[in-house]
Amino acid sequence: MNLMAQQRRTLIAGNWKMNGQLTANSALLGDLLATPLESTCEILVCVPSVYLAQCEALLQRTPIAYGAQDVSAHQSGAYTGEVSPAMLADFSCKYVIVGHSERRAYHHESDELVAQKALQALRSSICPIVCVGETLEQREAGRTNEIVVTQLRAVMDVLDDGALARIVVAYEPVWAIGTGKTATPEMAQEVHAVLRATLAERSEFAADKVRILYGGSMKPDNAKELLEMPDIDGGLIGGASLKAVDFLAIVAAA
Ligand code: PGA
Repeated sequence: MNLMAQQRRTLIAGNWKMNGQLTANSALLGDLLATPLESTCEILVCVPSVYLAQCEALLQRTPIAYGAQDVSAHQSGAYTGEVSPAMLADFSCKYVIVGHSERRAYHHESDELVAQKALQALRSSICPIVCVGETLEQREAGRTNEIVVTQLRAVMDVLDDGALARIVVAYEPVWAIGTGKTATPEMAQEVHAVLRATLAERSEFAADKVRILYGGSMKPDNAKELLEMPDIDGGLIGGASLKAVDFLAIVAAA
């Protein structure tokens, strides 16, 4: 691990997706809180927005941070069904995932929309976790780097250097999400290095600061080798974040 990588605090983030309800959430959070967390890494759970109030009640003044899974690109107005960054901030929400591949695929979110979401989140002092990743078809066509760089550049285009240094990026190969297929540590590292080099073209400072998480079937048995890579600064964990033992085992591996 190089010196710069050591300065970036590892972030282990759970993405609950559309799972959980009040009772199950309090059981899961209770299990997480019941275990003394000896790790120095930052721990985060990203929950459906309606449960942010529950997180605020249960997680304030604990070592576990909470965040949302999506946000509007607008601060207020006639956008029925949307939740603004200012609304997330009302619940002391620290992070929000933007541009998850499920939103890009099922809700046709463009790179430009994702960039606006990141920008607006930062305006409400919420850190966007910007997801990028290629489909299997794109990887097989040798287009991985082109795809992830285009997705990242759209966000870079709307942020100044200071704001850029405050984002988190998550590399999530679409073919690895929820499939049990993980990128090898070498495959992931290669893409993470490309993403960091892309940030460095704009700002060396941002490139050193920004944490780049890996996501896509990260599990207790593969987390350590992935997290050992110099440009992998944490994980965005779906399935394994729904079981306290698995999530805690990944935290321990970090
Ligand atoms: P997974 O999901 O860990 O279940 O593959 C990751 C994600 O979608 O963020």
